[in-house]
Amino acid sequence: KLVDESLPRERSHHRQVSGGYIYTEYHPMEEIYEWMTQIQKNNSEMVTQHILGMTFENRPMYYLKISQPSNKPKKIIWMDCGIHAREWISPAFCQWFVKEILQNYKSDPKISRFLQNLDLYVLPVLNIDGYLYSWKKDRLWRKNRSPFENGTCYGIDLNRNFNAFWGTIGASFNCSSDVFCGHRPEEAPESSAVAQFIRSKKSDILCYLTIHSYGQLILIPYGFTTKPPNEELMQVAEEAAAALAGKYGTNYKVGVPSSVLYSNSGSSRDWAHMIGIPFSFTFELRDTGTHGFLLPTDQIQPTCEETMLAVTTIIDYVDKKYFPGGAVMLTSSSLGLTLCLSIVFTWMVS
Ligand SMILES: *[C@@H]1O[C@H](CO)[C@@H](O)[C@H](O)[C@H]1NC(C)=O
Ligand SMILES: *[C@@H]1O[C@H](CO)[C@@H](O)[C@H](O)[C@H]1NC(C)=O
Ligand SMILES: *[C@@H]1O[C@H](CO)[C@@H](O)[C@H](O)[C@H]1NC(C)=O
Ligand SMILES: [Zn+2]
Repeated sequence: KLVDESLPRERSHHRQVSGGYIYTEYHPMEEIYEWMTQIQKNNSEMVTQHILGMTFENRPMYYLKISQPSNKPKKIIWMDCGIHAREWISPAFCQWFVKEILQNYKSDPKISRFLQNLDLYVLPVLNIDGYLYSWKKDRLWRKNRSPFENGTCYGIDLNRNFNAFWGTIGASFNCSSDVFCGHRPEEAPESSAVAQFIRSKKSDILCYLTIHSYGQLILIPYGFTTKPPNEELMQVAEEAAAALAGKYGTNYKVGVPSSVLYSNSGSSRDWAHMIGIPFSFTFELRDTGTHGFLLPTDQIQPTCEETMLAVTTIIDYVDKKYFPGGAVMLTSSSLGLTLCLSIVFTWMVS
């Protein structure tokens, strides 16, 4: 059920309603599956739905590809949400992001520019089994749901299961631990599905974004060393944090995990950068601990709005770096400049 028709009218007045789907609530997995189908059907010229793999409990993992029809070869921005089950604001953001892009790509010059060069691949819920478990059994569940030791302990931390200095720091080999990294990299079907896909497209992926909560951080590679970070990644993340703060004043810290969070290994962010994807960032969304993983629904909209600004700042930077020629159309600012120059020129010669 997507929208309960019997709800009092008043309720929907207080919420952002877009095409019937309520983006300012957390949705159970069944509704997110249904949302994916609908968003694809409703925007079939721009959106296609693809299968990435199956979860441990045999549920399909779908991603959405947002692509403006064009003959020219394009590059890819990847974004995944919900690698950690309890971080509900993360899948909510992926859904918001897709909605915003589809609503605004015609009118927003920034979005329409980068969609000429870039396709957006969005995996709304990476850890589907865990997400379901966090709705039905244990709200604070983090890992996937693979059983170990005869079902006496469950779950691999998918964000410790990638092949980036796997198992070396900030991870555990005890399957009861919340940061159990598995017995080998990509042991979990979910991390394996993502890794296989990213590897197969790595020469086309310019940017890997992975959305978590909480902490209000933008993390850059690497999590397993204290070496000074890549200057350009740092600068882009700072620009993104500034754009984000411009909306509601929310303060984000930017840096490598060892300086703003804690060291870790086996993360998807580090792995993506190690295999050659130039831009790779982890977002830790609101808040800083007041509500933690239980971020109230009235913060979904402001969180998504401000995060949208940060994410589009990053995509815009990547677009302009790799496609400096940019848009085919004359933009209004370049038109303005031309006009200015011709006025100055006319004045000089007259
Ligand atoms: C798709 O379009 C239908 C008909 O306009 C609408 O009821 C539905 O809410 C839309 N779904 C999404 C996810 O936008
Ligand atoms: C799992 O169960 C089997 C059969 O009962 C037993 O032989 C084995 O030692 C158990 N393994 C662990 C890790 O508990
Ligand atoms: C694994 O962690 C659990 C829970 O913290 C603990 O009870 C158990 O003793 C640990 N096992 C080992 C082998 O360290
Ligand atoms: Zn997380």
